[in-house]
Amino acid sequence: MKETLGTTGLILDEPLLWEKGKKGRCGFSLPRRDVVASPLDTELTGDGPDFPDLSEVDVVRHYTRLSTWNFGIDTGMYPLGSCTMKYNPKINERQANLPGFAGAHPLAPPSLQQGALQLMSELEQYLAEITGMDAVTLQPAAGAHGELTGMQIIRSYHKSKGSSRSKIIVPDTAHGTNPASAALCGFHPLPVKSNEQGVLSLDAVVEVMDEDTAGIMVTNPNTLGLFEENIKKIAEAVHSKGGLVYGDGANMNAVMGIVRMGDIGIDLMHLNLHKTFSTPHGGGGPGSGPVCVKSHLEPFLPVPRVIKRKNQFLLSEDFPDSIGKMQAFYGNFGVMVRAYSYILSMGHKNLRKASRLSVLNANYVKEMLKGSLHLAYDRPCMHECVFSDRFQKEQKISTLEMAKRLMDYGFHPPTIYFPLVVHGAIMVEPTETESKEEIDLFIDALKSIVNEAKEAPELLRQAPKKCKAKKMDETAAARHPRLAG
Ligand SMILES: Cc1ncc(COP(=O)(O)O)c(C=O)c1O
Repeated sequence: MKETLGTTGLILDEPLLWEKGKKGRCGFSLPRRDVVASPLDTELTGDGPDFPDLSEVDVVRHYTRLSTWNFGIDTGMYPLGSCTMKYNPKINERQANLPGFAGAHPLAPPSLQQGALQLMSELEQYLAEITGMDAVTLQPAAGAHGELTGMQIIRSYHKSKGSSRSKIIVPDTAHGTNPASAALCGFHPLPVKSNEQGVLSLDAVVEVMDEDTAGIMVTNPNTLGLFEENIKKIAEAVHSKGGLVYGDGANMNAVMGIVRMGDIGIDLMHLNLHKTFSTPHGGGGPGSGPVCVKSHLEPFLPVPRVIKRKNQFLLSEDFPDSIGKMQAFYGNFGVMVRAYSYILSMGHKNLRKASRLSVLNANYVKEMLKGSLHLAYDRPCMHECVFSDRFQKEQKISTLEMAKRLMDYGFHPPTIYFPLVVHGAIMVEPTETESKEEIDLFIDALKSIVNEAKEAPELLRQAPKKCKAKKMDETAAARHPRLAG
């Protein structure tokens, strides 16, 4: 028996089912046979697979216990900055699981897909309305995939004007995928520093913007959780040199129903349906990164596009300037259903309220913790706030140790060491779906950890102690990595 077995009563070091099996146990009961026994085909008999004999309760407890080893948004607060891990209402899961949607076959003829195509067409319209754009593609499978789609659209746009620009401006507070997507598309990403307020200044952009620059990629709100307040003037400067403005709208959760990016100079942008619109972010599950464009970029959108002709929804490839196909079939349809259901169930007013609450909650966390943790930029934030471990330097306690200790308090740690512009960053995004009581528990936990850093720093150095997997030997892990085969 392993040491931890039975120590907490709940988080057991669960044995394999093979270790639990006892000859003669059985997890099913069949009605008494009412036909004459007949020998089995000899090819089917023999030793058979080595399955353990288990009772029903053995099996149910085994899998139920295993399920508690995962931390998920349904388990507790998951304040992962830059990831919007908010609670996703189950009603949206339910809609995506309706047999007509879940079983829809992408190769079925349009006459049998009218409902799915109508949903896609209407979702495109809702996203256009939310972003202030004119047309939308739902094809990209993730945010970064949307960025790549956007970069290709920018390339095609310049090509249609007879030019081939080589650079894209990317501020140092952009999400890391931005320069990667620009480079993947063959552009040279041009880094620009943000100012002492944590945002991009007009002067910094004007200085580098020239006629060989295809445009700028702006994450807004940026990865410091700050709104790029000079964006309108920056967009004018970029446009005046013939460039385009790409908006990374993955942080739309902060501004739904409040800011329409199309109204402040953005030419094209992506959204992360799997952050903002009711699909959990990460975990390797499917995502969706629709790209929304102004009318001058519509001809370049990927095909096929959903169109309506004579009251029928159709898929059309008849867009000669399109950048082509970005994804098998039309995108991750289940994520679209969740987003459609979320938008309809919330309505305009509640989408705006969700954003307001997400901003309120982040500012509450910022104000409550700023005396305990060093606040990187002491000014109102949007949906997330960024601290650092500067105050804990004296005790030689790092961001990583505080994050690990939070796990002992039952919280998923926030994002750490990102954004890179803040040394030892701790990035908290509480989201709108947490109550004040839950957020207060999180704040109290962090305050208590800050105290422990002063009074009992060993507790932090050994954390996590109460989790299924205890503190890792990071040196051994780095020197002798065991990579999955
Ligand atoms: C601001 C921002 N942009 C882009 C992305 C990339 O999105 P994805 O992980 O879906 O590729 C993220 C991911 O969280 C993000 O936070």
